[in-house]
Amino acid sequence: MPSELSPIDKAKFVSAKRAAQLVETGMRVGLGTGSTAAWLVRCLGEMVRDDGLRIKGVPTSTRTAELARDVGIEVISLDEAKWLDITIDGADEFDGQLNLIKGGGGALLQEKIVATASDQMVVIADVGKEVETLGAFPLPIEVIPFGWQTTQALVEETLVSMDVLGRESSLRMNGAVPFVTDEGNHIIDLHLKRIGNARQLSLVLNQMPGVVENGLFIDICDRVIIGFGDGKVEVRDINEGTVEKGQLDFVESDNLFADLSD
Ligand code: A5P
Repeated sequence: MPSELSPIDKAKFVSAKRAAQLVETGMRVGLGTGSTAAWLVRCLGEMVRDDGLRIKGVPTSTRTAELARDVGIEVISLDEAKWLDITIDGADEFDGQLNLIKGGGGALLQEKIVATASDQMVVIADVGKEVETLGAFPLPIEVIPFGWQTTQALVEETLVSMDVLGRESSLRMNGAVPFVTDEGNHIIDLHLKRIGNARQLSLVLNQMPGVVENGLFIDICDRVIIGFGDGKVEVRDINEGTVEKGQLDFVESDNLFADLSD
């Protein structure tokens, strides 16, 4: 295992490496966004180069598209793919039912569209992402720029009748200016602390004018692959009700670990 990586990065890496073993030649693969998904893209790139793996990748952000091309993965659009065999992506939080909070990287809209258009969604995560109840991580919602302050006020007002602990929200910034998503929208982060009824909250948020999508992924994830800093991995399948434990043996690859910036 690369000694210079932090335990969290090692955990992210082993979960990504294990997930890459699920990918076979001929598959159309949804490629997630974020630091854990970046490990996956690197692993798949290595398999394309060294093992002759042939896949078509559908990225969930411009940065993942750029990385995928860089490592030699053929990139196509979702409309070209139409349907995907598997999507592998990170998460900010997952609970015991494999419901998720996503969007910490600001790509939740494409991530949800791509994951929903897949036979299976696999989440890769370090063990620190597991929670009993969703909500400690701020829930991102993507809103259109027009009237975003009015939308924010309306969302805060609506939260009063929801089963949540906190009701503050903040516009996500990119330095001094509002963060802009790949679709040209903004992100408002909801600091809810604890979400009592994630399914209900997701439905209510998505009914509000100005809200394009929210970062709750309910009944979308099929499997989570949890990585640990010592190389252990655990695969939980919510449909089969199975838990598989293992340990990854791998050697450092110069190609894989060079210049990883995401
Ligand atoms: C991107 O918008 C997010 O949904 C990411 O999947 C999530 O933030 C996890 O990111 P890391 O793998 O960097 O923790």
